[in-house]
Amino acid sequence: MSQVDRTREHLIETYRKKAKHYDITSRLYPAPGYPQRGQRLRAVQALGLRAGDTVVDMACGTGLNFSLLEKAIGPAGRIVGVDLTDAMLARAQDRIETSGWSNISLVQADAVAFDFPAEVDAILSTYALSQVPECAEVIAHGAAVLSAGGRWAVLDLKVPGSTPGWLAQLGTATVRPFASIDQWIMRRPWEAIRAAMHEELTDVSWTELFFGTAFLAAGSRGPGTSGA
Ligand SMILES: C[S@@+](CC[C@H](N)C(=O)[O-])C[C@H]1O[C@@H](n2cnc3c(N)ncnc32)[C@H](O)[C@@H]1O
Repeated sequence: MSQVDRTREHLIETYRKKAKHYDITSRLYPAPGYPQRGQRLRAVQALGLRAGDTVVDMACGTGLNFSLLEKAIGPAGRIVGVDLTDAMLARAQDRIETSGWSNISLVQADAVAFDFPAEVDAILSTYALSQVPECAEVIAHGAAVLSAGGRWAVLDLKVPGSTPGWLAQLGTATVRPFASIDQWIMRRPWEAIRAAMHEELTDVSWTELFFGTAFLAAGSRGPGTSGA
């Protein structure tokens, strides 16, 4: 089994254990009082959604973005939620049924292998893409299927620029006890995400949130982008 496969297995096992209580424990993520809801709202706003739009929520987990997305696209729109972990998708399905939404489909897939539907209006990924080693590829695959003017937005955690390595390690260890922290810090996935957004999209914005502990990257598919 390759290192990537081992990491993936570990992720699935971790999220299987977390799924049941994820909606409650994620309120403490990455720390109690963290403005996660506000950050989600900003990410959804960055998509510039209109009624009837089709949105992919990549690594959607239990579907914590669904209500915000539903509000923006309405019943004529469509959401495709994608995630690697069956147990997280099962919670997402519960949410869909409880809320009575009929325009959301769920797909169990690895982000990098997901076959995006054609002509997607927007793609969102929150607190997840930095866990995917091939995050740049995922951004490229998504950009290629965006409709003209379609938007990609990524919200995720990062290590603040001015933080000494040892402190970053300590801080991140407390919030990500499940992943290989050293690898995550060493990989600096937010840099790969930023570079891929610039490579694949136009009109890219990069906003650091909450003292540089998170970022919101967003961009459009325009005539000058490689996906076009
Ligand atoms: C911290 S949760 C975030 C879930 C959701 N996006 C949210 O904002 O609450 C990370 C999610 O990413 C999923 N994930 C991790 N690696 C993945 C991959 N390679 N492909 C698809 N999903 C993945 C996990 O199964 C988990 O549900």
